[in-house]
Amino acid sequence: MPPVSPDIAPIRSRLLAWYDAHARALAWRAPPGAAGRTEPYRVWLSEVMLQQTTTVHATPYFLNFTARWPTVSDLAAAEDAEVMAAWAGLGYYARARNLLACARAVARDHGGVFPETEAALLALPGVGAYTAAAVTAIAFDRPANVVDGNVERVMARLFALETPLPAARPELKRLAARFVSDHRPGDWAQALMDLGATVCRPRSPLCGQCPISADCAGFAAGAPERFPVRAKKADKPRRHGVAYVILDDKGRVALERRPDKGLLGGMLGLPTSDWATVVEPRTPPFPGDWRDAGAVEHVFTHFGLTLHVRSIRAGGGDAYQWSDPDAARAALPTVFAKALDRGLAPDLF
Ligand code: ADE
Repeated sequence: MPPVSPDIAPIRSRLLAWYDAHARALAWRAPPGAAGRTEPYRVWLSEVMLQQTTTVHATPYFLNFTARWPTVSDLAAAEDAEVMAAWAGLGYYARARNLLACARAVARDHGGVFPETEAALLALPGVGAYTAAAVTAIAFDRPANVVDGNVERVMARLFALETPLPAARPELKRLAARFVSDHRPGDWAQALMDLGATVCRPRSPLCGQCPISADCAGFAAGAPERFPVRAKKADKPRRHGVAYVILDDKGRVALERRPDKGLLGGMLGLPTSDWATVVEPRTPPFPGDWRDAGAVEHVFTHFGLTLHVRSIRAGGGDAYQWSDPDAARAALPTVFAKALDRGLAPDLF
């Protein structure tokens, strides 16, 4: 590994010293100076969760997963449905499927031990460039270029890069690579991400607290929050659908398991119509006194969904699984939990 260039070395030192003093205490993290001493399983699991959400939201999920499945082999042996239910609320369920596929590959092909090189990690199912680099750096304390949105933002500001995202990505990755070194690679990766999350924030960066503001071209230009520059993007397409909240005479709610293929595949859901780009009247699953409970909005990766909610009190029946509403709320993906709350509004019946 070549030494970092002389203009880069002092920036590294300043940021590492800041990390020594200000590292966030996170459930999955070894303190500064101890990178390489965290179970790779815990690093991998936390990084997959953090691609979905913030550290605050991910923490209870991480604690629950590691309490229920303390090792990657325990996770590999878990029932699909249990893992999917434990993932509910983290969104983007393809990741939960990949999580299981990866745990099973580690258990089956690597004797339950995560491989230690970036290339071998990349070969695992569902492990992309970011996760492979993060596990290499943080779990094994080996040099790797860990670039997430936080790191992109820090680099774009530090170098006042005018190229707009997403075209700027390869350039931002090259800039980040200039800092990669075999001196404290795990701490370096986490220091950059912590700086991005707590100081070099997307809006209102706290440049007064930044250990490298004197090195920052964006700060010198007087407008760090202008970076990264973004190409104006088209609005996401919108789809519309109807979710049906069906209550039986015991106050239980009807649920269905969704088909394996497709959005929220394999998850429990409320019965729904299809989700189409046009607003059109839908025929409910059976005739009756359906009440209009309004609509909820949800944003998926590729589209926004307006989900209208209709409620009814009806008899039970074998067509559905019946669940207590509190248990349903905990097991359902967020979009359906929101729709369930609407459909249970007390003034509807
Ligand atoms: N965001 C994603 N992974 C992170 C990590 N390891 N430390 C801090 N923030 C992160």
